[in-house]
Amino acid sequence: MKIAVVGATGLVGGVMLQVLEERGFANHEILAAASPRSVGKQIDFAGRKLTVMSVEDAIAQKPQYAIFSAGAGTSRQYAPQFAATGCTVVDNSSCWRMHDDVPLVVPEINMSAVRPEHRIIANPNCSTIQMVLAISRLHWQYRIRRIVVATYQSITGTGIKAVRQLEAEEAYASSHQVASAQLRQSMEQSMGEAYQPAYPNQIYRNLFPHGGDFLPDGYTTEEQKLVDETRKILADPTIGVSATVVRVPVVGGHSEAVNLEFYNEYELAEARQLIADTPGVIVYDDPGRNHYPTPIMAHHRDEVFVGRIRRDNTQPCSLNLWVVADNLRKGAATNAIQILEQLTMKQ
Ligand code: A2P
Repeated sequence: MKIAVVGATGLVGGVMLQVLEERGFANHEILAAASPRSVGKQIDFAGRKLTVMSVEDAIAQKPQYAIFSAGAGTSRQYAPQFAATGCTVVDNSSCWRMHDDVPLVVPEINMSAVRPEHRIIANPNCSTIQMVLAISRLHWQYRIRRIVVATYQSITGTGIKAVRQLEAEEAYASSHQVASAQLRQSMEQSMGEAYQPAYPNQIYRNLFPHGGDFLPDGYTTEEQKLVDETRKILADPTIGVSATVVRVPVVGGHSEAVNLEFYNEYELAEARQLIADTPGVIVYDDPGRNHYPTPIMAHHRDEVFVGRIRRDNTQPCSLNLWVVADNLRKGAATNAIQILEQLTMKQ
């Protein structure tokens, strides 16, 4: 089998290659594609070297499957071109997620949305994947009326440029006597054009309630994804979702404080069991021993971790959770490759 990885030189692309190797795809022919800047570069895969090719060359080789993580613009341009050759595309960008004829899939929830004629399958946003997986069985049992979520998102979700920003800020802070509050200004003055941050704010010893672009209603595009994608994956357009996305100086994974209101009463022990019984979810919740999930614990893991499961005492039928996962793995690469596994099994 021939599988193209578009965006193979990126952060998610690198993890995709790793997960392909771990999950038994090492002996398949892997076509590593990226932008013209990277063509000819060598990258490691399963003990061998892959030479990066252009996306056009990858299309010409007619792979059976293509997994994309190269931004929405690249997916918009090239996913239909792969599909036109009969290839099935699993796309990690936001480009196709809300199209009516494109399934948006978390395999443990709604693989059944994929039909044989689908040539593009969308992988949800990282924050959405971990949240919906943690709450899916609760929705099926008690029906969710409303979700209020605040995320604490790793900088790796923004790509290599964001990781470089944090590393540059850390290095500058350790080699210069400068207060945190003056760091950005000092870097701009001393580095000039060489200082090219990914964010409009300093991320070192800081955080900001801003992911993506602001919309006219005051929410951001990252917050809107949590609204739209949750409704589509859980197949319930009536679920209310109120989201605040926060970027934090963390690399291991995304964390989420989730408040749920159900239509129906629930038993806490049963709710906890429903979460624990969800494939791919681990309940780690023993506050007496300081056991609750953290991004360091979730880093390099494929599971979604849930803790701090407790009743919201301020109103009936309401529950609070803390949900953590590695955004590059279950939030991106692992979920995409689980979709690929299911597709190849169906053949
Ligand atoms: P390249 O490394 O050649 O720029 P990240 O999100 O970590 O920054 O990674 C983005 C990925 O998407 C990289 O592999 C990048 O390749 C790839 N990419 C960006 N723009 C394009 C494009 N126009 N065509 C193909 N791949 C692209």
